[in-house]
Amino acid sequence: MQSTEQGWQTKRTGANGGRRNKHPGLLINLESYPLNRLGSPEGSRLIAQCHESLHSTGVCLLPGFVNQDGLETMAAEAGELEPEAYFCRNHHNAYLEPDDGAFPPDHPRRLRMYTSVGSIAYDRLPRHSALRTLYEWDPLVTFMGAVLGYGQIYRFADPLGALSINVFRQGDRHAWHFDESEFSTTLMLQAPEEGGEYEYVPDTRRVGSEDYGLIRRIIDGEHNDIQTLPYNPGDLLIFSGRNSIHRITEVSGDTSRLVAILCFSTRPNEVNSDEVRTLFWGRTQ
Ligand SMILES: [Fe+2]
Repeated sequence: MQSTEQGWQTKRTGANGGRRNKHPGLLINLESYPLNRLGSPEGSRLIAQCHESLHSTGVCLLPGFVNQDGLETMAAEAGELEPEAYFCRNHHNAYLEPDDGAFPPDHPRRLRMYTSVGSIAYDRLPRHSALRTLYEWDPLVTFMGAVLGYGQIYRFADPLGALSINVFRQGDRHAWHFDESEFSTTLMLQAPEEGGEYEYVPDTRRVGSEDYGLIRRIIDGEHNDIQTLPYNPGDLLIFSGRNSIHRITEVSGDTSRLVAILCFSTRPNEVNSDEVRTLFWGRTQ
């Protein structure tokens, strides 16, 4: 759709080693995802389809959201930044909550699982990088707000966590868990040779009625109805992770799994706590 001549162009800026773009919208597949025309019939239809999918299934997957030029640029930038990733290796329960001694030791609330994943913080991304250019593009925020049904939303204001890139190398994985936030938005940049699958069990949790037997069977590998998302490079995923337990399976091979995490908030100026910053990036500023 986009020709190289009119499309995404890159050049070294020298001063910051970053790249400069001309048009953020040229990073994405505007024919399928007309974010530059959200008020048009096609734009309204896209929003309605995404909203319906997200609220009926908990998943909104937009295949090929980023076009080939955009993807190649973003993946190359992420690869260059990979040495800057901070690796978090810890054990946690499925609820990502502190251990609660009120439950028996083998209760799903207390079972601890191993996660290892690296993250490149927002402040490591050059100002004119393609990924940052997309994240800071206002039509993307407008689109997200409409899909989520919140109307007005905001980019997260955290200097480290607003936009980050998860890095899974050989042996890395993210164990079963529920997210604290209602929705997450992620963009697949690079798939590994093997593993790194996004597995989930829809609607495993409803507020006020936890099915701990089900959670235990999932954690123990005794549940047969685990779904795998067909999540490929260039795809944007909006996922309701607060009610559907999910994990990233162990990665193998020499190619890292690289996934951008784009954070939005219903409130302006929202940031992470120092504890969260220390856990994921090893620093508070
Ligand atoms: Fe998650």
